[in-house]
Amino acid sequence: MCGIVGYVGKKNACGILIEGLKRLEYRGYDSAGICINHGGKLHISKHTGRVMHLEEEVLGDENIATGTTGIAHTRWATHGEPNQTNAHPHTDDSGRIALVHNGVIENYRTLRQFLIDKGHTFKSETDTEVLVQLIGEFYRDGSRNLEQAVHLALPEVTGTYGIAVTSSDEPDKIVAARKGSPLIIGVGEDEYVVASDAGAIIEHTANVIYLKDNEIAVITSTGLRTATIDNVPVTKEIQQIEWSLDEIALGGFEHFMLKEIFEQGEAVRNSMRGRLDLREMRVQLGGLESVLRELLRTRKIVLIGCGTAWHAGLVGEYLFEDLGRIPTEVEYSSEFRYRNPIVDEGTTVIAISQSGETADTLAALREATDKGALTLGIVNVVGSTVARNTDAGVYLHAGPEIGVASTKAFTCQLAVQTLIALLLGRRRFMSQSTMQGYLEALAEIPEKIESILTESERIKDIASGLIEFDNWLFLGRGYNYPVALEGALKLKEISYIHAEGLPAAEMKHGPIALINENMPVVFLAPRCSTYAKIISNIEEVRARKGRVIAIATQGDEEIRKYCDQVIYVPDCPVPLQPMLTVVPLQLLAYHAALLRGCNVDKPRNLAKSVTVE
Ligand code: G6P
Repeated sequence: MCGIVGYVGKKNACGILIEGLKRLEYRGYDSAGICINHGGKLHISKHTGRVMHLEEEVLGDENIATGTTGIAHTRWATHGEPNQTNAHPHTDDSGRIALVHNGVIENYRTLRQFLIDKGHTFKSETDTEVLVQLIGEFYRDGSRNLEQAVHLALPEVTGTYGIAVTSSDEPDKIVAARKGSPLIIGVGEDEYVVASDAGAIIEHTANVIYLKDNEIAVITSTGLRTATIDNVPVTKEIQQIEWSLDEIALGGFEHFMLKEIFEQGEAVRNSMRGRLDLREMRVQLGGLESVLRELLRTRKIVLIGCGTAWHAGLVGEYLFEDLGRIPTEVEYSSEFRYRNPIVDEGTTVIAISQSGETADTLAALREATDKGALTLGIVNVVGSTVARNTDAGVYLHAGPEIGVASTKAFTCQLAVQTLIALLLGRRRFMSQSTMQGYLEALAEIPEKIESILTESERIKDIASGLIEFDNWLFLGRGYNYPVALEGALKLKEISYIHAEGLPAAEMKHGPIALINENMPVVFLAPRCSTYAKIISNIEEVRARKGRVIAIATQGDEEIRKYCDQVIYVPDCPVPLQPMLTVVPLQLLAYHAALLRGCNVDKPRNLAKSVTVE
């Protein structure tokens, strides 16, 4: 995720900004940049890759090394690949204003066209450049100061932002604002440090002001003024940061995995932002526009991926066939290229990958390209190899995933596949009212995920009663069969408990032989057309003294009769259920692993990104 640092004071800004960027490295980033406002000019340096490379570059630059006001940024690409041009800070046409930005400007296409019509020229592919050019548009005739221009620009913007802006005409000043992206101002003695994250502030001061949404701060070395975007002055209280640096990186969570499980509501919201249009009742996926006609004519979809991404593909198979009515297959990336698959120009191959760098998936993609398929990527890391080597695609916008066990990438892979399936379904056969039902239900998913997270402590209690058992089964049907596989994978990869996931009906064809009082069996049993059959499967386990844990729909009191433990999830249409039913399984695995003393963020033998075949 992008990071912002800004400094106004009496000290050398450069060192403070670079140190601040280093404190934000844990958030994940692909490029970094700095702007020092010094001697009536903006001195900018940007670099792809590590902050240390930027540091080496600016060391010898006297202008950058001597100024006392500046802004800096680590970029985690969302619009435009990670390169020097797309890195922040961005400047307006005049080169007098520089800006760093976290968040996504949803109406950037409209604003960009408006600005092009006004004679502005764009250097980058980013949504951020639109914002700095818009501020520049209000600033350029010289009748307004920087904060007035920012006040005029921000109401035009739809989306989210945390920004820090500076102008060469107004040295010793930063204007900062936020809406939906955090921004904190550290208040020192005759100095201020602005940052998106307390980690970049804590070594300078523990006194901070938290900007709220729709608030602007004008910061100079001698003082600070805060107001709303509508220019109503606000008095802010100075608060104390009480966390250590490590705690800040983890945002108060004990592990990245838990943090990422808890980020899922917001991550899914970000995946759908600007794409799910409830006003027009449609799905808009800019990344697929160039291939949409070809995609609508496709005869077959093949989804490829590894690990959790493959499980997401299994859900995708149901989604694309059920909602999109397109024949769909799912393949392990590692198997795809070696079995001489039947892929031709009527086939669309969709690679699903959090990192976009998994070697097996890249190899499978090459095979698909060679055979003439349309290739798409559903990828989290912008500018990654999968993103670059596909004809088109949709980014997850889930934010960096650091925990080795994939969690929020999975729920976002499901959200994005649902959007694609609905887009195709609606264009091909789906009625407006069916579409409306799904879109409204989809918009409620993030909040429903968040309501499940409140059950974490109860799930921990359930886990504590089960961790002595070394073999578990996870069973589900239909859309929830892949969730059973994902639940088993989560448990085995971080707690080292042996677990198997199966379609519930398959149990009687063999695995039932394993069931006795030492076997916990987790059933995915939300309300759906096969609910009664799942209950029969539960009875079969009970009859053999297995321990039954069910994931069920809120309000289903009946199921308690058959189970040792029930974890409830809110109701939603069946195709959307996996985004909810997987969450308790992630928490179950997490707590089981901790209770067994395992290191959940660094599980043994596993790597976050597997770049060997
Ligand atoms: C590794 C990780 C898994 C992940 C898989 C695919 O095995 O440990 O969590 O699901 O790679 O990674 P990708 O980046 O392609 O989604």
